[in-house]
Amino acid sequence: MKNIDPTTTESWKKLQEIFQETKNLKMKDLFQEDPERSGNFTIQWKDFYVDFSKNRITAEVQQALLGLAQDTGLKEAIESYYGGEAINRTEGLQVLHTALRAPEDSEVLVDGKNVIPEVYEAKRKIREFSQQIINGAKKGYTDQAFTDVVNIGIGGSDLGPVMVTEALQFYKNHLNVHYISNVDGDHVHETLKDLNPETTLFVIVSKTFTTQETLSNANTARDWFKKSSPADAVSKHFVAVSSNISKVEEFGIASENIFPMWDWVGGRFSLWSAVGLSISLAVGYSQFNELLEGAHQMDVHFKTEDFEKNIPVQLALLSIWYNNFYKAESEAVIPYTQYLQKLPSYLQQAIMESNGKSVDRNGNKVSYQTGNIIWGEPGTNSQHAFFQLIHQGTKLIPADFIGFKKSLYKDRDHHHKLMANYFAQTEALLMGKTSNEVQKELEEKKMASEELNVLRPFKEFDGNKPTTSILIDQLTPTSLGKLIAMYEHKIFVQGVIWNIYSYDQWGVELGKQLASKILSEIDRLDVSNHDSSTKNLLKFYLN
Ligand code: F6P
Repeated sequence: MKNIDPTTTESWKKLQEIFQETKNLKMKDLFQEDPERSGNFTIQWKDFYVDFSKNRITAEVQQALLGLAQDTGLKEAIESYYGGEAINRTEGLQVLHTALRAPEDSEVLVDGKNVIPEVYEAKRKIREFSQQIINGAKKGYTDQAFTDVVNIGIGGSDLGPVMVTEALQFYKNHLNVHYISNVDGDHVHETLKDLNPETTLFVIVSKTFTTQETLSNANTARDWFKKSSPADAVSKHFVAVSSNISKVEEFGIASENIFPMWDWVGGRFSLWSAVGLSISLAVGYSQFNELLEGAHQMDVHFKTEDFEKNIPVQLALLSIWYNNFYKAESEAVIPYTQYLQKLPSYLQQAIMESNGKSVDRNGNKVSYQTGNIIWGEPGTNSQHAFFQLIHQGTKLIPADFIGFKKSLYKDRDHHHKLMANYFAQTEALLMGKTSNEVQKELEEKKMASEELNVLRPFKEFDGNKPTTSILIDQLTPTSLGKLIAMYEHKIFVQGVIWNIYSYDQWGVELGKQLASKILSEIDRLDVSNHDSSTKNLLKFYLN
């Protein structure tokens, strides 16, 4: 990968010029000038219809952004990413979540060794184990089939699986799958209180098997289990997903019950590995595999499609346009399906842990903005919560609207209502409402002109708020796989162009180190060695 400061490229300078010329343009006018605008800025690919025409871009902007991709070596970077180069340089690691969904006959080399056979060995182990738990062939220590699965993990070892399990709830089997992540004891005890240890399976997910939250929760779960069950039953009720075999064995989990993780898969990109075991338990292996298949289709699209028609590339470039030229601080993700309620939280880790960096690949402080703030909630709920600010607030918030043509329960009445809101919002954000329109509306309501003049400014909408409509046929494991992989590749493109390392997360370390130091001080009741604010807070806490 090239290490180019994007602001030194010709295309960046060109983008700055275009920005000065076009920053006040109204998208409404662009639609009027060009009847083909929607078609020109839409990518249709398989069951995806991605319309980014309601964005503040012109063909000239698009070309200049594509120039930026070229100037910063995106094509070569994609080759390095898929080809197993150690692009996570600060940790000396490859970034190969794409290998987890590659076909069995592919070859992906890590240190000269093809990793695909081990990926498929792990997949077979996931399939066999899931089938045996689901069909009751594998039983608990009192010979009863399992009814509940508790996934214990945090960050990437939780957010992906919990988001997908909820997203695919429609496809779920009889197993109740619970997720415990927070070290908050109330979280673990609240989950355990209604469970029967004889029919509960625990899946402990931790790549390092040293994460404080996960180990504390796993220990609490094991103590709870042992209270009513014989000690040797632990091996039947606890399995682990980890790359730290010795630590897992120390915990008391038998080696045959350990599912692998690899260094070349980052935590926040690991749901496609055995980290997704709880997904496979919840919906069955074949649906889990369809999720992977969907992601693979997006991998092929991203790798082979021209940048002009490449969904992740176009989304990433748009995001850079707003972030670095319009100075937009955040992006909203609004799924019009309750099933994707956890997608924004999942994307917060994926995007913000990856691109929340301020040192470039040369080791210098960057002079430009990087990672965006990601937030969101499903529509229509969010319309009744924060949409006011998007419509009439002072901030520019580009938003992705994710919708589906078909609902899963086929309730047309509900679905038309839901989707009418989806279309109405993006149109309202584009068009706004002018002073004349407000006047006309109020006159029709026979409002007296004095009152009308007072009210008018409050009822005006500037419009011109950018949205991207991602319309998909239906929420299935395959389409979900494509959607998640789409965002993964968007992250990659932005990291390449911003010249940062997207695949490390050193920023999380400092808090972890301090927390363990403070924990031992709390145990010793010695909190003297802190700034006065922290010291007083600790004293108040301990009194
Ligand atoms: O939050 C930091 C982090 O390292 C994430 O990147 C990771 O997903 C999470 O902690 C959990 O780590 P582990 O799987 O090793 O328990």
